[in-house]
Amino acid sequence: MNASQLAPIRFDNQVAIVTGAGGGLGRSHALQLAARGARVVVNDLGVARDGTGGGQSPAERVVEEIRAAGGQAIASAASVTDPAAVEQMVAQAMREWGRVDILVNNAGFLRDRSFSKMSLDDFRAIVDVHLMGAVYCTKAVWEIMKQQNYGRIVMTTSSSGLFGNFGQANYGAAKMALVGLMQTLGIEGEKYDIRVNCLAPTAATRMTEELMGADALALLTPESVTPGMLWLVSRDGPNKTVLCAGAGTFSRSHITLTDGIHIGERPDAAELLAANAARLADRGGEIIPAAGFQQSQMEVTKAREAKG
Ligand code: NAI
Repeated sequence: MNASQLAPIRFDNQVAIVTGAGGGLGRSHALQLAARGARVVVNDLGVARDGTGGGQSPAERVVEEIRAAGGQAIASAASVTDPAAVEQMVAQAMREWGRVDILVNNAGFLRDRSFSKMSLDDFRAIVDVHLMGAVYCTKAVWEIMKQQNYGRIVMTTSSSGLFGNFGQANYGAAKMALVGLMQTLGIEGEKYDIRVNCLAPTAATRMTEELMGADALALLTPESVTPGMLWLVSRDGPNKTVLCAGAGTFSRSHITLTDGIHIGERPDAAELLAANAARLADRGGEIIPAAGFQQSQMEVTKAREAKG
């Protein structure tokens, strides 16, 4: 692949908000957006994590890095779980720069446990930060983006949501809910040129440092994921895409519909279904529906065909 002939992806005159950008993936996203011309709101919880950094919060430190490199950024200590604080963060961006072009919903944490041992509080806390946090931030920028007739939003999903992972029922549910949020917002935003996509990253960060070996962690840099985010939020980026990214490898994940079999209403329908389980799963003729109605459309068509 010859990079020299490719038009650079730039974000000049654009404003981006990256949540949870005090470290890990969010920091890498914020640094790259700023390096490519965007003015960036670096959001992260206010608390200084390790007591170092001269009393600066993680977000403030990232802002300083961006400014030192010649970019423009402001810090926000809003918790994404606090809708009023999120509104203020967006108002701050509007006061400073008058628009919001890009929102990267990235903030979050884990509370892993097997489902048996997981408290409802642990479940709720994870849904609050990953799903509702993204909902609050998206809601706060949505009307602005509609009025601008432009917006790019990324939801950070996870392989744990897409495919499941032991001990992450709460996290997986919240992360998969973000895919559902994307599917509908991608449809509703289309006519305003608002595009909504999901990024499923793998990276060695505070979140994963205890889960993987040192050699894998060395390959899984946040910086190798960020180009995926840059494409998703670029002017010519896609809509309703789930992009998986890790260690410089990119792939796509799809929610699909198999062609199916029509059984009809009959007393032994369940038994026939069980007997045809393999055919049901056959991926020949599988589609990626553009919207939910395509399922009912297929069902009604097959029923009509069966009736003759
Ligand atoms: P990280 O722990 O380094 O970064 C997450 C940041 O979010 C932290 O700086 C934290 O302070 C901030 N945060 C937490 N709660 C917040 C709140 N209420 N308001 C504002 N900020 C808050 O973790 P990492 O790995 O960089 O994660 C970034 C995103 O990527 C998360 O959504 C995570 O679930 C997702 N992800 C990460 C994977 C990985 O392999 N690292 C795998 C799949 C998804």
